[in-house]
Amino acid sequence: MEKRPLRILSIETSCDETGIAILEETGQTSITILGNALASQIEIHAQYGGVFPALAKRAHAEKITFLLEQALSDAELLEAVDSPLEGIAQRLSFLDEKETTLKEGLVPFLTYYKTPAIDYIAVTVGPGLEPALWVGVNTAKALSSIWGIPVIPINHMEGHFVTAAFLKKDESLFDLSPVTFPALALLVSGGHSELVLSDAFGSYTKIGHTRDDAVGEAFDKVARILGLPYPGGPAVSKLAKEWRDANNPPLFHLPRPMLHSGDYDFSFSGIKTAVLYAVRDLCEQDGAKRDLTEDEKKALACEFENAVVEVLVKKTVRAVHEHGVQTCIVGGGVAGNTYLREELSRTIKKEFSYVTLLFPEPWLATDNAIMIGMAAMLQANKAPLRQGFAGQAKTHNPNELRADGNLSL
Ligand code: KG4
Ligand code: ZN
Repeated sequence: MEKRPLRILSIETSCDETGIAILEETGQTSITILGNALASQIEIHAQYGGVFPALAKRAHAEKITFLLEQALSDAELLEAVDSPLEGIAQRLSFLDEKETTLKEGLVPFLTYYKTPAIDYIAVTVGPGLEPALWVGVNTAKALSSIWGIPVIPINHMEGHFVTAAFLKKDESLFDLSPVTFPALALLVSGGHSELVLSDAFGSYTKIGHTRDDAVGEAFDKVARILGLPYPGGPAVSKLAKEWRDANNPPLFHLPRPMLHSGDYDFSFSGIKTAVLYAVRDLCEQDGAKRDLTEDEKKALACEFENAVVEVLVKKTVRAVHEHGVQTCIVGGGVAGNTYLREELSRTIKKEFSYVTLLFPEPWLATDNAIMIGMAAMLQANKAPLRQGFAGQAKTHNPNELRADGNLSL
């Protein structure tokens, strides 16, 4: 048989993005993205200002087969069978009770297309919204059982972690940068805010986490209070920048929760509540109500972003110092925040010029399947991509695969 490069099909459904990607190992330390299909549910959730698990599950199930076809077709790996395969519906009977929509899509797909030339199926098994995660996990189970291809379960946070270490060479080619350990990752998204130490890929220790809301969640809630669209991060950040760039003075002061707590934990729900009270104080007086002015919105957004970024940067920098960190990584949707990037870069450069700071490509900072494929690639690849990887590639009996909403690194 012709020797061909290692290929992985990856699946991401942990929150409100449905993603399928196909990655190929290319050369010494690089990977090529052969296919990448992503469907966002932003429009579905925007009307509620947050993600509803049952709606997310349905949207994943409705879209995922189409995305599989699209990613495989882009990778030139989608080939029709000569005659339809029989018995697929029966073999997927485990989907009958809870995943009827998914089954409706997968049965014709698996009946009319050949097994593609891939080596592993990688899937996010947690953390995330459990009903949403199960759609991806059940898709992996179905593909694995019909195609006979092993599954690599991936922790979503490891996906965010490794993505920043892959540097973009051109549209689809990424090179693994030589990460010097110990590395520290600030992982900040809609569901998580944590500081993670790593002495090798595959070996992680969480040293701090949020005790209540995640940073992205706080951005989303503040956006809602200010009457801005979901997801709130980019919208709040845009207003904040307008106020900051105009050199306007602060009109408000918000707390910096747990700034001096002496540990690496965070708390963001208090800042959000402080924004709510500030708006109430301004707009509801003597029984009369008014709207916020545009300037008040900008000033509040700016002070909120200042407060959040100050806490994130201070705690990250302290961890860099106290743990002798050589590489600092930022991952997750909030890693796309320009002000966080600027402030962290400025502080690290000034105080720890020997530390390498890595951010993901902005379009890879929010959830996608490429990051899941990248994490799986580090596990599955023999060498040298795998240099510095501490664990073993963990393939699973598909029948034992489980989604775990609270999975920890
Ligand atoms: O990683 P992600 O796509 O999904 C989760 O795993 O949660 O992160 C989405 C979160 C949302 O809360 C969104 O408001 C936030 O990331 N976000 C941002 C920015 N872009 C996305 N927050 C602040 N600034 C941004 N530029
Ligand atoms: Zn995420």
